[in-house]
Amino acid sequence: MNQSDLIARFHSRYACAAAFVARAPGRVNLIGEHTDYNEGFVLPMAIDRDVTIVGAPRQDRIVRLYSADFDQESTFSLDAITPEPAAPWSNYMRGVAAMLQNDGLALRGFDGVVSGDVPIASGLSSSAATEMATVMAFCAASGQSIDRVRAAQLSQRAENQFVGVNCGIMDQFISSLGRAGHALLIDCRSLGYELAPLPAGVTVLVVDTTAPRTLAGSAYNQRRRECEEGARLLGARSLRDVSVQEFERRRDVLPDVVARRCAHVIHENQRVLDAVAALRRNDLSAFGALMNQSHDSLRDLYEVSSAELDAVVDIARGEAGVHGARMTGAGFGGCAIALVDDDAAAALADRIAVEYPRRTGRAPNIYPCAASDGANWTAV
Ligand code: GLA
Repeated sequence: MNQSDLIARFHSRYACAAAFVARAPGRVNLIGEHTDYNEGFVLPMAIDRDVTIVGAPRQDRIVRLYSADFDQESTFSLDAITPEPAAPWSNYMRGVAAMLQNDGLALRGFDGVVSGDVPIASGLSSSAATEMATVMAFCAASGQSIDRVRAAQLSQRAENQFVGVNCGIMDQFISSLGRAGHALLIDCRSLGYELAPLPAGVTVLVVDTTAPRTLAGSAYNQRRRECEEGARLLGARSLRDVSVQEFERRRDVLPDVVARRCAHVIHENQRVLDAVAALRRNDLSAFGALMNQSHDSLRDLYEVSSAELDAVVDIARGEAGVHGARMTGAGFGGCAIALVDDDAAAALADRIAVEYPRRTGRAPNIYPCAASDGANWTAV
């Protein structure tokens, strides 16, 4: 639903004028997978798909939300915030309210209509977009401002502690701090960051495998544990502290599975830094080769890819104008991305639309994406 439809929807539902539009984008990660919770490096970009909240402040401490996508209303008081199993979409928003308040922000209630075009449960971070849009809505309704890194940290905390998903910081961070035309190098230990301009003339083609992500939660947590064990056995605070050279010298002290998980993370950190250097010298073929290596490592060493993700990557790599292709996000289904020349993007999409169903029996959803700005709000 576009912004003016949403404003009209707010008006007809709540019989008053909207005061603000808050929005936050989903993301894809270009490279640096499963490194954020190892205090390493990531290189995501915000995409041109958002969660939007149209709202108006209230005089009391009630938050009344209507999800246009789920056609459901959910209301809570800022004085007693609890999860609502009957409206799971609202829990990301309730969680953010709780964390903002715990952090000392004085919140006011608001009425809001929520809608998004970030595909849900596809690995494009619709949950982080919902959280960051909620931060913006509370800032707008309460006349508050918040540091953008802090906003990402509190949104992550909402997801970890209130929703109960043990994610890293990447998704919330890029939804908060993305910039049009740029990817963002994030140091997930210091939370320092640096914009990296994306070259003109290329598109990021996002392909949703539409395969169910059943294992995602449990396997994600298991990978985290394996990394922690690896760091412990290597005597490091985290895998971030282990260089490629040191790891290759000492990997024999690790059990085989742990060694393979660590190999992925440690080499992936280096690949992110190399990829940023490649971007800065406009070397798309080097950048694409690193994307390919990242995927192969996630498939063979970290073991979080899937037959469907591998199929997309395999099809894309054979096509003209493609610099590189890999899975993006946690894995176990979800989306793959291809970095492709603008003038070859349509042919690539057509090819995947024909070949992917033939190989997998599933229909893909294909989204050409542009790097976009992070969360913000504007007065109506
Ligand atoms: C999910 C998590 C992120 C990150 C990625 C893997 O998207 O939410 O924090 O760990 O998986 O890179």
